[in-house]
Amino acid sequence: MNRVLFPRLHLAEIEDQSWCPDFLRTHTHRALARAWKTTTSKNGSPAFQASKILVRELGGLSKTAEYTFIDSCAGAGGPTPIIEPRLNEQLRAAGLGSVRFKLTDLWPDLKAWREITSKSENISYIEEPIDATKAKRLSGDKKECRLYNLCFHHFDDPAAAQVLESAVESSDAFFIFEITHRTLPALLNTTFIILSPFITTIYDWWWSPFHLIFTYLIPLIPLFYAVDGYVSCARVRTPEETWKLLTRSSGLSKEEWEQKNGWKLRSGSQVVLPPFGTLYWYSGVKNEAK
Ligand SMILES: C[S@@+](CC[C@H](N)C(=O)[O-])C[C@H]1O[C@@H](n2cnc3c(N)ncnc32)[C@H](O)[C@@H]1O
Repeated sequence: MNRVLFPRLHLAEIEDQSWCPDFLRTHTHRALARAWKTTTSKNGSPAFQASKILVRELGGLSKTAEYTFIDSCAGAGGPTPIIEPRLNEQLRAAGLGSVRFKLTDLWPDLKAWREITSKSENISYIEEPIDATKAKRLSGDKKECRLYNLCFHHFDDPAAAQVLESAVESSDAFFIFEITHRTLPALLNTTFIILSPFITTIYDWWWSPFHLIFTYLIPLIPLFYAVDGYVSCARVRTPEETWKLLTRSSGLSKEEWEQKNGWKLRSGSQVVLPPFGTLYWYSGVKNEAK
C-alpha cells in the first residue's frame, strides 16, 4: 500500500508564492490544523499519535522532558496545541517538569498564534519571520528538538539539505511529519482534504461573503486545495531521499554518517486517520555524550 507510485517532482505550490493572497494561506492552514485533530481511529487524532512517536523516539518520558520543542514552520499551529497539553500531562503524571514549545514560521500567523498562546503558558512564539533553512538555536540551555510538521516537502533539495544541516549543527533532535506522499493511501486521503472546504467553509467562515463566494459560487478555494494538495504529494521524499540530503556531500552511507556524526536517523509510517490517512515520520536524535 505504501509503495511510491512515481518519482519525486518539485512542482510549485501556490502557498509558497509571495503573491499568494493571505486568505488562501490561512484557509489551508486552518484545514491542516483541523486534520491534525480529527479522530477516526481508536488510537486518537493524528496529533495524539504523533506525540506518542515523539516520546518513543526520544527515548521515553524522562528523556523527552529534557527538550524544548521548536515548531519550525508552524502555520496556524498544526499539531502543537494538541501535543503540548497531552505531553505535559503525561510528564507531570510521571513527576517530571513541563516542556515548552515555540512557534516560528517564515510567514508568522500571529492571529492564530495569539489565540493558541493565550490558552497555554507552555507555548510561545517568535513574532519575526524565521527561515527554517537558517534557523538558530532558540532553546537556551535546554536540549532543542525541531519539528517540521507537513512542511519539509516545501523545500527543494538544496534548501532541504540546509534545513537538515542546520538541525544537526544547532539542535539535538528533529522530527519531520508528512501526511501527503506519492502513495495510493496518501493520494486518496488528500482527495478527502481537497473536498473538505465544501463542508468546513460554512462553519469557519459563515460570516465572510468573500470565503463563501470563492468556495460555493466560484470554487477557487477548493481548486487551490487541489493544486497544493496534489503538488504536496508529488514533493514528499522517501526516507532514502531524505537521508541522502545529509550524506551526499560526504559520500558516506547512512550508517557511516550516523557513526561519524553521532546521530540516529529513523523513519516509519502508520495509519493515523483511517481509512487512508497515513503519517510518514523521519527522526534524527543526537546520541548522548559518553
Ligand atoms: C503546509 S504548512 C504546514 C503548517 C503546520 N506545520 C501544520 O502542520 O499544519 C507549511 C508551512 O511552512 C512554512 N514555510 C515555508 N517555507 C518556510 C521556510 N523557509 N521557513 C520557515 N517556514 C516556512 C509556511 O509558511 C507554512 O506555514
